[in-house]
Amino acid sequence: MHCQFSGPEAGSNQQLAKRARISVIARWHEYPTNKKRKKRTIRKKRDDASLGKKNGEGIMDMQRKKIHILNIVGARPNFMKIAPIHRLMQASDRFVATLVHTGQHYDEKMSQIFFHDLNLPEPDIYLGCGSGSHAQQTGAIMIALERILLERKPQLVLVVGDVNSTLAASLVASKLQVPIAHVEAGLRSFDRTMPEEINRLVTDSLADFLFVTEESGRRNLLHEGIDPDKIHFVGNVMIDSLMSHLKRAQQSTVLDDLGLNHQPYALLTLHRPSNVDDQRNFDQILLALEQIALRVPIIFPIHPRSRKMLTQFQFDHRIAKAKNLRLIEPLGYLDFLKLMNHASLVLTDSGGIQEETTVLGIPCLTLRRNTERPVTVEIGTNVLVGMDTDRIVEESFKILDGHSRQGQVPPLWDGQAAQRIVAILAQRL
Ligand code: UD1
Repeated sequence: MHCQFSGPEAGSNQQLAKRARISVIARWHEYPTNKKRKKRTIRKKRDDASLGKKNGEGIMDMQRKKIHILNIVGARPNFMKIAPIHRLMQASDRFVATLVHTGQHYDEKMSQIFFHDLNLPEPDIYLGCGSGSHAQQTGAIMIALERILLERKPQLVLVVGDVNSTLAASLVASKLQVPIAHVEAGLRSFDRTMPEEINRLVTDSLADFLFVTEESGRRNLLHEGIDPDKIHFVGNVMIDSLMSHLKRAQQSTVLDDLGLNHQPYALLTLHRPSNVDDQRNFDQILLALEQIALRVPIIFPIHPRSRKMLTQFQFDHRIAKAKNLRLIEPLGYLDFLKLMNHASLVLTDSGGIQEETTVLGIPCLTLRRNTERPVTVEIGTNVLVGMDTDRIVEESFKILDGHSRQGQVPPLWDGQAAQRIVAILAQRL
């Protein structure tokens, strides 16, 4: 499996990669250039000093005060969750926050564009682990991260969401007895065929701080026997990002670019293995989309996994025929937010989009049989429709005919979740 390290530790990590027989596939775009490397070295020296790596009592005093945290990201839905937390930690004199990108997602449109749109600094450490089977990907990330943790000796590893990078980082930290904070803990679909459910279960069983977004999260964790002292209901960091970027997103020209101004349209995302790797389910969904596209254009920013499977199942000709089903490249955060905010209807199998549409008040049909985010169905705008063609069409037409549910914003989804998380960590560590 492949990992390429860059960042200040590039030299030593490449030696590790060699020892671990990890080969090289990906690069954080042109990173680090000499200028960036210089800036980074200065920052590293500053961080080292603040961590008491030099002798001297004043610095040792600072060491006691500063909390060194590794913030881990890897895949697209992680970036908007880490952004508000990392920003607050950087602004605070209580933390030294190091941003580590595992490289699980590596395409410009799946990764770098989000750093730009979210004003996130480039990662301090990029592991370049890339794609592979679950075991290959998780194992490669674990091997690479273990070295980073041994070198950096953080006081906490903070992970977000439920992707393989979240799981890998939690396993490594826990074996090295580094405390773990899990943001978005406790969500359960109760469907163990979903890789994310396994990631969530393992991560939560290892975490020391469990930050939950909705009441069901707390309930699930208590039911699993997690110590209530570890559970903190803080709200939703994804909504922090949404709220702080909505104004900028309004300036996006994506509607004009797609010729959609003042026209109703549906927005679609689809990438779950259960939908796109399963030919029958993909076919059922496509049949529904073909019918909906007779009424409104459907904009489909397509995930690399889904594009690959469309071709493998020889569905390309159907897409070409359904003129109103418009496949486009994956979009950046701001363009996607604008498209979502103006859509008549969103069809999705993503987790986060169920939450974002609920806050925006946009009708959402989730192409799954279950959701780990029940509050979006109970009080939000989300309806679970599964993969049945007739049901998807019927519910879509209801919405297009003006019969959509009016949702409410769930408790504590107020843009302040990262503040609460950082305050709890500052107090408890
Ligand atoms: C991952 C997460 C999923 C999340 C999704 C968001 C896991 C188990 N799954 O799924 O929870 O909803 O990200 O996108 O962690 N690929 C590229 N370029 C990239 C990344 C991936 O071409 O930058 C292709 C590769 O063929 C790869 C496939 O997409 O094999 C799947 O990528 P992977 O990271 O394994 O999972 P996702 O389906 O993206």
